[in-house]
Amino acid sequence: MAFERVGVVGLGTMGAGIAEVFARAGLRVIGVEADAEALARGRGHVERSTGRAVDRGKLNERERAEILGRITLTTSRDDLSDADLVVEAIPEILDYKVALFKDLDRICKPETVLATNTSSLSVTAVATATGRPGRVVGMHFFNPAPVMRLVEVVGTVVTAPDVVSGIADLSARLGKTCVAVGDRAGFVVNRLLLPYLNHAAVLLDLGVAGRDDIDAAMALGAGLPMGPFALLDLIGLDTAYEVMCVLFDETRDRRHAPSPLLRELVTAGLLGRKTGRGFHGEETAHRERDRAEFITFGVEGDDAGPIVEQLLRAGFKTSDEPDVVLRLADRPVIEHAVRLPTPSAMVGVHLVGDRVAEVASTALTSPAAVAAARDLMKVIGRTPVPCKDRAGFVVDALLYPYLNDAVRMHDSGYASIADIDAAMRLGCGYPAGPFEMLESIGLRRVRDGLRALYAEYREPSFAPAPLLDHLVTAGLSAFPRP
Ligand code: 3HC
Repeated sequence: MAFERVGVVGLGTMGAGIAEVFARAGLRVIGVEADAEALARGRGHVERSTGRAVDRGKLNERERAEILGRITLTTSRDDLSDADLVVEAIPEILDYKVALFKDLDRICKPETVLATNTSSLSVTAVATATGRPGRVVGMHFFNPAPVMRLVEVVGTVVTAPDVVSGIADLSARLGKTCVAVGDRAGFVVNRLLLPYLNHAAVLLDLGVAGRDDIDAAMALGAGLPMGPFALLDLIGLDTAYEVMCVLFDETRDRRHAPSPLLRELVTAGLLGRKTGRGFHGEETAHRERDRAEFITFGVEGDDAGPIVEQLLRAGFKTSDEPDVVLRLADRPVIEHAVRLPTPSAMVGVHLVGDRVAEVASTALTSPAAVAAARDLMKVIGRTPVPCKDRAGFVVDALLYPYLNDAVRMHDSGYASIADIDAAMRLGCGYPAGPFEMLESIGLRRVRDGLRALYAEYREPSFAPAPLLDHLVTAGLSAFPRP
């Protein structure tokens, strides 16, 4: 299947990025927008993106001019009549997409493949609105399209197999890895990513931790390229909200109900980077408190030795009545606090990776103890993440349900372990796929963490996936792979 002339309809952030990807790979691109103003915005996206590549020495001016020269912009869909492939990237409203595909079906030559970049809508619903359902696929790119190396190719029950393989070959030509999946809400990546992002908004709304602290916990602690709120702002809060609505409609899983905070921001028009403000955007300068010079401390819990040593080396002293008692734990510490003569001095400390320490305050912890614990964690070179004393604190509460969802997805037969791992690594820039993460954290630890989350929140989908539970019971430390 030869694709040389490609149409892209809709030149917002995603559509413009997709047009750039095709043009960079040497294909001729016809970019279509509704009016001249939208067209100019689309052109601006591509010019800025390729301009940045020149500034960074990744392209020279001649290559940039060639890329821009391969993109023709128009407001007339009729200009797509000769295209070999048309990729749609218009807003996520099914009626709009159906109307567009009917129009493309009329305009384009019979052999043209029509692709939708939908994040979560039914590809089958779009395909069956045309007279060529066999030549309609999902071709799902990731933001920023020129950077993220994944394309999910979504085949429906009626897509011709050579169309799926043709789009997979084309993806390789674009320098992307393709994961072929069936038509289920959210496909692989959004089905796993968006519930995690939504859950972060729920924790923020519940006051478990602050925005920047949650972002820092996931970026520095879990090693993800961005924290959840920075990523939501990149994706667009309206897109995230729409994906959650579609997931909820399909699953009726309470966790897939969009967070009220997300809905509020969308209603207020605070959509993230595209409107200049979303979760981030209006920063209030806050002054770092001067560090308390004299803090006495105690440390409790397993493996306290190294922390005690580090703090003593930094000049801090222990005491019988310390200002703060650091309880090392990966579970809530309130039951330990109530056994102390001064429960207000106890703070839970969960060390995450090499760079983060979650600092959990119980209902009894004093502000002075929290402040002292934060200072002490900074002294030992860790970013403190203040949070409430809740199961999983921040990182485990967000990470473990995501890992559990991946196990359920695989167990349902929707995608292989290799495809799920590759999709999350390449689509979201994660340092490892969920199965690789599960195996490096330890299956038992994740299973037990999920049990603790379930016991506290009674959320059915926090219960460990049966496959995970059975592997732990069988004493296995890795997932069987073919
Ligand atoms: N357009 C084009 N290129 C961009 C870009 C953009 N908007 N943003 C960054 N880049 C390029 C830079 O030019 C740079 O290129 P180089 O390495 O060739 O010089 C490279 O990306 C790295 O950029 P920076 O150094 O400025 O920034 P970071 O190292 O912080 O990386 C990031 C930025 C690539 C966005 C990284 O943080 C990341 O991978 N984040 C995760 C993004 C993600 O998860 N995307 C998927 C979202 S889900 C989705 O899109 C599906 C949808 O349906 C909802």
